[in-house]
Amino acid sequence: MSLINIQEGAVVMNNFQFVNPTKIIFGKGEIRKLSKEISKNHKVLIIYGGGSVKQTGLLDSVKEHLKEHTIGEFSGVEPNPSYETLMKAVEIVKNEGFDFLLAVGGGSVIDGTKFIAAAAKYDLDDPWKLLTDNRSVTSALPIGVILTLPASGSEMNGGAVITKKSTQTKLPFFGPALFPKFSILDPVYTYSLPEKQIANGIVDSFVHVMEQYLTYPVDAKVQDRFAEGLLATLIEEGPKALADKENYNVRANIMWTATLAYNGLIGSGVPQDWSTHIIGHEITALFGIDHAQTLAVVYPAMLEVMKDEKKDKLLQYGKRIWDIDPSLPKEKRLSLAIEKTSDFFVGMGLKRRLSELDLGSDAIDQIVKGLADHGMVKLGEKGLVTPDIARKVLEQSL
Ligand code: NZQ
Ligand code: ZN
Repeated sequence: MSLINIQEGAVVMNNFQFVNPTKIIFGKGEIRKLSKEISKNHKVLIIYGGGSVKQTGLLDSVKEHLKEHTIGEFSGVEPNPSYETLMKAVEIVKNEGFDFLLAVGGGSVIDGTKFIAAAAKYDLDDPWKLLTDNRSVTSALPIGVILTLPASGSEMNGGAVITKKSTQTKLPFFGPALFPKFSILDPVYTYSLPEKQIANGIVDSFVHVMEQYLTYPVDAKVQDRFAEGLLATLIEEGPKALADKENYNVRANIMWTATLAYNGLIGSGVPQDWSTHIIGHEITALFGIDHAQTLAVVYPAMLEVMKDEKKDKLLQYGKRIWDIDPSLPKEKRLSLAIEKTSDFFVGMGLKRRLSELDLGSDAIDQIVKGLADHGMVKLGEKGLVTPDIARKVLEQSL
């Protein structure tokens, strides 16, 4: 008699492995733990962006806490970090023998640091192949993070997204070596965020949850309930973060939600979508639109076009998250769930349509061509989002 008793065709949770080695150090003032987290034997390169960490005083504080370490600095990692800029850091790391990288900033700085860490160990060829070879990264310098913008989840995952400016290509790469050793999450560091970045962070986190939750049911009850908890928290706390700039509890809840939204937990054992993200990356690479803004435009349109495929989860989401009356006709419930999602993004201050970003049908042609050129031709949880479907989605969002 078989011990496995699963009926053929039955809906079951996918098999999975879950490992997350990143140590999270959460809370006000926890930078005091920094120096103990990095051995004094390391030569540490502090990596940051355009200067917000100088204005807020965080950089000085980091240096003060590392005064007994040998340190250097690399600044100028731009939003949507570029291969061109990062390769300059790779040269410095190799020439000067840095062997620990400390990212101080948001998703772009962390992702950029992951690329530098992997490229510094990649001697075979052009490190851009890390992005194009589709191979899991198993060797990289150790990374630490001090997070200033809750959004990407990069502080507790093994992924990164890098842009090659010369070819307008934005691609992700992944691997176990890319998980940070530790990440310090102090909500106070997020007080200085401009409204636009607060809103971007909420919307990005929201769509991270949706890309893993809103597919088709596999009876994954815990993953669903966790995901719904994260969504409800973002809906509750998002507007408060815009209204009340220095509310510790609001910022703490948002920060931890953003991390949990994309650290592997809610995505374990369930089908995942990510088609909106891939289309969004093309839009950012071509037109420089903020990552979250691309999602706010594409995601509701994706739900509209794929609503038959996604209807079971979309109805569950509508009921549990937006309290949509189950006695309404099914079509009405589906359209309300999509409308409320888009209204939430707009309420946070993002634009609803491509046309509001001055993008029209010429842009759609370029985006669809980009997808095909980059081999992104079977996206979504079932591989149904072809370039033709992507075109439909983009036309829907005009
Ligand atoms: O560069 P500085 O001067 O630091 O200014 C930044 C930047 O201009 C500013 N900022 C950050 N923290 C601040 C602050 N300003 C004031 N006070 C603070 N505390 O915010 C601006 C945007 O920063 P950025 O790091 O670009 O934002 P975000 O965290 O949203 O990261 C976006 C990048 O992450 C990628 C995106 O594609 C994009 O390139 N993603 C990475 C993922 C991952 N690794 O898993 C997943 C995501 O889906 C996403 O694709
Ligand atoms: Zn994202």
